Amino acid sequence: MNSAAVSRHHFLGDAASISRLYTSKILAPSKTTTRVKMSLREGGPSLAVVGVTGAVGQEFLSVLSDRDFPYRSIKMLASKRSAGKKQTFEGSEYTIEELTANSFEGIDIALFSAGGSISKEFGPIAVEKGTIVVDNSSAFRMEENVPLVIPEVNPHAMSHIRLGAGKKGALIANPNCSTIICLMAATPLHREAKVIRMVVSTYQAASGAGAAAMEELEMQTREVLEGKQPTCKIFNRQYAFNLFSHNASVLSNGYNEEEMKLVKETRKIWNDANVKVTATCIRVPVMRAHAESVNLQFEKPLDENTAREILKSAPGVVIIDDRASNNFPTPLEVSNKDDVAVGRIRQDTSLDGNHGLDIFVCGDQIRKGAALNAIQIAELLL
Ligand SMILES: NC(=O)c1ccc[n+]([C@@H]2O[C@H](COP(=O)([O-])OP(=O)(O)OC[C@H]3O[C@@H](n4cnc5c(N)ncnc54)[C@H](OP(=O)(O)O)[C@@H]3O)[C@@H](O)[C@H]2O)c1
Repeated sequence: MNSAAVSRHHFLGDAASISRLYTSKILAPSKTTTRVKMSLREGGPSLAVVGVTGAVGQEFLSVLSDRDFPYRSIKMLASKRSAGKKQTFEGSEYTIEELTANSFEGIDIALFSAGGSISKEFGPIAVEKGTIVVDNSSAFRMEENVPLVIPEVNPHAMSHIRLGAGKKGALIANPNCSTIICLMAATPLHREAKVIRMVVSTYQAASGAGAAAMEELEMQTREVLEGKQPTCKIFNRQYAFNLFSHNASVLSNGYNEEEMKLVKETRKIWNDANVKVTATCIRVPVMRAHAESVNLQFEKPLDENTAREILKSAPGVVIIDDRASNNFPTPLEVSNKDDVAVGRIRQDTSLDGNHGLDIFVCGDQIRKGAALNAIQIAELLL
């Protein structure tokens, strides 16, 4: 995703409309229970959530609570605009503070989701204070010394980083949401038969561009249905009843940044500089959760039945692959869920000798593509 191109403050951006999204089904955090959790524990780490008012920030809170993540304190950080507002979490009311260079004193783990420029500015400051930063932006992903981690795929990449190790700070990067969703499904197959080439086509939801993009899609839909001119501030074009090439900047090679993230991050996560990856990323008028068509070419043969068995036992993956009733993964089905769904598992008949497979993958990119993955990383630190 490219949040740089999307500032919610170019848009309506008023607190009331954003909070309406949070309380509606559209951005409802994936709470499965109303039970008050008791994750507040003396021995737990002190946490900070940077960008707590955003789409990912709100999901952080939901996932922390759902997973009973232990913490002895939690600091809610956002921009000056949100400072002083209240945030309820696990039955307690917190005051949102403005992010400053002094925000990280005594913080063990900081979950960052306030955009790349904020991460670049404040990530190193936090590390200097001894904080372990789990960053959702693209700011540090390709830096050699920064682990880029999907816990089900390459947890070993961060095995040298632990809490309390001399109170040393560190940066760990969360991969791009499309990369996480793709590799959750492709990696178990890669381990079996070695992917030599991967072709990805994405169908990306509004939520990938943050809370304001979701709000604009909802508003445009109403406006179009009412025969009005749609308000086009986030993507500068009609989104409702339309689709378009991903809003990330287009590079000199013709790929956009989102596509190149899939290429480069896959190579880093798989530690395979030779794997061939190409991608086309498209924004579709879906509120939440991305879909991806993934074509895989393998070094070794892999038949579709074996692939199905492998995916059945893959952690964080569910199979929805009912050919008889034409039932396959959908964004709605995976919204607010942890697992990535895989279907349309079929042999690529254009390749001889069972050397290719086509699959269709859906995942909630605010959850597994961002907040859940980051908190799973934080769990590895405990
Ligand atoms: N949405 C996704 O699916 C997704 C997936 C993976 C990664 N990410 C990454 O997560 C980050 C946030 O994305 P999002 O979708 O949650 O965006 P969002 O809904 O627009 O939220 C942005 C957050 O950043 C905060 N912020 C903005 N300027 C700030 C400043 N100067 N100081 C402190 N906080 C500031 C905002 O606080 P205010 O409310 O005070 O402005 C808000 O909490 C981006 O880096 C994005 O690339 C998002």
